[in-house]
Amino acid sequence: MKKETRAYYADLKADYSIKIRQLVPKYDEMVECIVELLRLRSPRSVLDIGAGIGNISALVLESVPGARVTALEVSDEMFREAQANLEPAADRVRLVHQDIVDFEPNEGYDAIFTNLVLHNIAPDDRRSVLERLHGWLEPGGTFIWGDMIRHPDERVNEYFVEYRRSFARAAGCPEELVRQNFEKEATEDHPLTVEQALSEGREAGFNDASPVWAHDAFAILFMRKARP
Ligand SMILES: C[S@@+](CC[C@H](N)C(=O)[O-])C[C@H]1O[C@@H](n2cnc3c(N)ncnc32)[C@H](O)[C@@H]1O
Repeated sequence: MKKETRAYYADLKADYSIKIRQLVPKYDEMVECIVELLRLRSPRSVLDIGAGIGNISALVLESVPGARVTALEVSDEMFREAQANLEPAADRVRLVHQDIVDFEPNEGYDAIFTNLVLHNIAPDDRRSVLERLHGWLEPGGTFIWGDMIRHPDERVNEYFVEYRRSFARAAGCPEELVRQNFEKEATEDHPLTVEQALSEGREAGFNDASPVWAHDAFAILFMRKARP
C-alpha cells in the first residue's frame, strides 16, 4: 500500500464509524447487504479483506453462527482497533496484519468478502489478487466485492463527487477530511466501472458475476467459484 494511502487510513481510524458514514452515504445499507448475503449461504470459513476496525467481521460472526473469520488488515492503526473490537469473539477469529498483495493463506474459504478496499490496489496487483483469491475459495464458494466504482460517463462521475462532497459537509464531516478524501480519490485510487469489475472477476475464473447493489459511486458485486 502507498505511504499516502497508509497515512489516510491511519487518520481515518479515529471516529471511523462516524467518518465512514459521512463519506459513504449508504454505508449501513452496504454493510447490511454484505452480511445478509453471507448469512444466506452459512459459510463456515470466511475471509474479510481490508477489515478496517473489524466491524463487518463482528457482524458476520453474530449473524452466521459457527462461522470462523480471518480478518486481514494492513494499517497498523486499523489493525489494533480491529484486535480490540474482535476480542470478544477471539476463539472464532484469526487476525492477520498484512497487505492482501502479500497474503498466502494456509486454508481454503467458503466465502471471501471485501468492502471499500480493492480500489486502493494498483491494476496489475488487483488482477493477480483476484486470481489468487479465486484459488483460495472452496468449490461453490462465494466472493462478495463491495467497492467504490466509477461511472463510464465522466459527467456522471463529476455529479457523484459533487453529491458526495455536499452529503459529507451536511453530515458534519470536517473540511480537511473532505479535502483529503476527494484528493485521494482523484490522485491515488483505481476504481473500476461495474462492467470492468465484473469482467476482471470473470477473467480471474469466477462464475455468475453480477451486481447485487449500487448507489452513486458504490456497488456490491457477487460471484462464485464453480464446483468441478
Ligand atoms: C475504507 S476502509 C474499509 C474498512 C471496512 N472494510 C469497511 O467497509 O468499513 C479500507 C480499509 O482497507 C485497508 N486496506 C487498503 N488496502 C489494503 C491492502 N492492500 N491490504 C489490506 N488492507 C488494505 C485500509 O487500511 C482500510 O482499513
